[in-house]
Amino acid sequence: MTDAADARPWVPSHPTVPRLKSAVQGCRGCELWEDASRAVLSHGSRDARVMLVGEQPGDQEDRQGTPFVGPAGRVLKDAMAAAGLATEETYLTNAVKHFRFQRRGKRRIHEAPELRHLVACHPWLEAELSIVDPDVAVCLGASAGRSVLGRRVRIGAERGEVLEGPEGRSAVITTHPSAVLRLRSRGGYDEAIEELVADLRVAASV
Ligand code: URA
Ligand code: SF4
Repeated sequence: MTDAADARPWVPSHPTVPRLKSAVQGCRGCELWEDASRAVLSHGSRDARVMLVGEQPGDQEDRQGTPFVGPAGRVLKDAMAAAGLATEETYLTNAVKHFRFQRRGKRRIHEAPELRHLVACHPWLEAELSIVDPDVAVCLGASAGRSVLGRRVRIGAERGEVLEGPEGRSAVITTHPSAVLRLRSRGGYDEAIEELVADLRVAASV
């Protein structure tokens, strides 16, 4: 099968969040729909001030159809609460809407999206940005940063500052909560959480 260049043919021309949620299930903009259970669009209010953008749904998100309901989501939600970001004022989504993974026996192991997946899936994020029009987009990790800012980002050098993205949109880059989780067994977890919370506070103050 030949895949389309990107998701554009599937994005409704007069989008609303409910229309996007329904249309994304039929997207064939890249091959990731083939192995995933469903597409996962977003959770939250279209009036949100703050849009948080992750990488892609994980195993739990793919099963449940809602972003950030697995282990990384728990870390994120705790950090949001600590930063004073109320869930009512946020909109949670991902750069890529289908779960990319490798099978190892019964387990499905997360595999990071490639640049071509970020590019293919970008029309969905663009539609969400135009509907929600947040005061700030928080990029959780490098994939989200690439997708929102349209360029390669360096988390260490650019995190926690208000950056200007395409069309004058404010963006804040921080680490992905999964990267923070990985530190649990290696040390540095508490510091990483503190840094994530500090970056989210910067976003909350925009
Ligand atoms: N990681 C993400 O980037 N997004 C999710 O929705 C869950 C885990
Ligand atoms: Fe479409 Fe994005 Fe899913 Fe690819 S990952 S099929 S572009 S929704």
